[in-house]
Amino acid sequence: MTPEGWLTEPEAATLRRHAKGRCLEVGTAYGRSASVLAPLVDTLWCVDPHDTFDTWGEFLRWLTEADVRNVIPIRAKFEDATGLLPSGFDFAFIDGCHKYESVRSDLTRAAMGCPLIALHDFGYVAYPGVRQAVEEFLAANPKWSMVDQGGMIAVLKRKITL
Ligand SMILES: C[S@@+](CC[C@H](N)C(=O)[O-])C[C@H]1O[C@@H](n2cnc3c(N)ncnc32)[C@H](O)[C@@H]1O
Repeated sequence: MTPEGWLTEPEAATLRRHAKGRCLEVGTAYGRSASVLAPLVDTLWCVDPHDTFDTWGEFLRWLTEADVRNVIPIRAKFEDATGLLPSGFDFAFIDGCHKYESVRSDLTRAAMGCPLIALHDFGYVAYPGVRQAVEEFLAANPKWSMVDQGGMIAVLKRKITL
């Protein structure tokens, strides 16, 4: 069973190039992107209130039927989930609310504890707030740069300073 979702194959390939270790997903829905990430990482925390679409039941059904054991589902908004998450991640995928303010908030919050972040729908004309939030973030944070793009996914990385 492959969960329903919006992720295209070029976007899945982009995630496969970078996902690793302790991984955070903001915006899971039915679990399509989680089904790509889970086999690549040690542990995947999936944060989603599951109240935009009725996705919670289908997501849990996929976890059970596919016998996925390294996913921790957190039914909450990212901004409310801080106490339920570890302090650091190796990789984060942001695909929650696509409004400018939400993307800015999610990106800023994730960047506090993660040096490698992918965002969905960068460049998609229906969601100009994603590009705006990413470009503003990069302009304000010179240690960060865009290191990859595939489909509608942009991957940002923090430079390591010794
Ligand atoms: C486009 S869907 C995610 C699709 C999924 N990544 C996939 O590839 O199939 C967006 C999801 O973001 C969730 N969402 C909206 N606001 C959120 C927030 N503040 N924190 C976490 N998730 C949020 C919605 O509930 C919805 O399920």
